[in-house]
Amino acid sequence: MEPYTYTFPIWVEFGTDSSEQVGDIAATKGWEKALVVTDPGIVEAGLIDGITGSLSAAGIDYAIYDGVEPNPTVAMVEAAVDALEAEGCDVIVAVGGGSSMDVGKTASTMATNPGSVADYEVVTADDVEAGRIENHSVPLVTVPTTAGTGSEVDFWSVITDTDREFKMALGQPPLYPGGPYLGATVSLVDPALTASLPPRQTAATGFDAFSHALENYVSAVSPPMVKPMARAVTERVAAYLPRAYHEGDMEAREHMMFAAHLAGMGENLAGFGAIHSLAEVTGGMYPEIPHGEAIAIFTPAVMEYNRDAVPGLYRDVAAWLGEDVSGMSDEAASRRAVEAVEALIDEVDLPGGLGEVGVDEADLPAIAEKSMDTSEIHDNPRGADADDLLEIARESY
Ligand SMILES: [Fe+2]
Repeated sequence: MEPYTYTFPIWVEFGTDSSEQVGDIAATKGWEKALVVTDPGIVEAGLIDGITGSLSAAGIDYAIYDGVEPNPTVAMVEAAVDALEAEGCDVIVAVGGGSSMDVGKTASTMATNPGSVADYEVVTADDVEAGRIENHSVPLVTVPTTAGTGSEVDFWSVITDTDREFKMALGQPPLYPGGPYLGATVSLVDPALTASLPPRQTAATGFDAFSHALENYVSAVSPPMVKPMARAVTERVAAYLPRAYHEGDMEAREHMMFAAHLAGMGENLAGFGAIHSLAEVTGGMYPEIPHGEAIAIFTPAVMEYNRDAVPGLYRDVAAWLGEDVSGMSDEAASRRAVEAVEALIDEVDLPGGLGEVGVDEADLPAIAEKSMDTSEIHDNPRGADADDLLEIARESY
């Protein structure tokens, strides 16, 4: 294997009330005015109060952009950049799920780099290595309010181009030490902010975190260090996602927060696969479908498709999910992995098919075709063409 270099520039604080350190950190950094990027539900639920209170206590001014919606668009990024400039802010504090964090991340980059969001779309590995983000982004603090996307710590964002009904992947790790990148300067990971997350979103976002570990582990470009990370994520999801969903207690939520965060780090090391290709495309065409639900719908059929290519890796996944696979062939153990994932989906009442979430069956060929244009499909462990993906989409209906 090629030597693997990895630069990890983000300062992370993990723990209950960590989000309330933002004021002290901003004062230490010399930031003067923060733009809080979030959605109206977060404001209404009072989840930014501790953050804005800490900014005020530290003498840091702030403004709020709360126009983020699920499956966020280029227009939302542009509105956040406009707000940043109009308010004279010098730091963005992105508070929310993946949508708010991705708008904040992308706005922080677009504020200092020329062109439009689409200019930074990533489809192939070459697009990442091209290093098109040349200027350092505006300082960014990410504060997740779901245990799911890992966006607080990864070097990716996903923004919908509404003209194409397509979710663009944007991404850039620091390509050399100190180099510009797309991502947080500081991440404040505060499990207390997930305490009021409704069960359905707890399930969907938690399953998304699992899918990151799963796809990262089996991806065609997975370095060895992903394995212990994927194991830690998967074991926690198996132990704590059902509990976070059914009981919602803080211990379960803390473990899920850690799992999601760790999976986000994994996203910086390895690729994704057909699950994310199909789910992102579906989310671009049906913005009302939450990302984690689309992920859960496609996961069993994609696993079944990939099983022949990576039976030994799925054997590990089955074991991490708590299945006894000793004495089984890899073939049987990999089938057990698919069954265990289906059982997890049932356990947390996630939707089992595209029909259940309102996808028109006539759109399946378009979903398959468009998925071939995503960056994720290149890293799926088994090669797939549009016909293969159409078959998977039909299985997932
Ligand atoms: Fe995801």
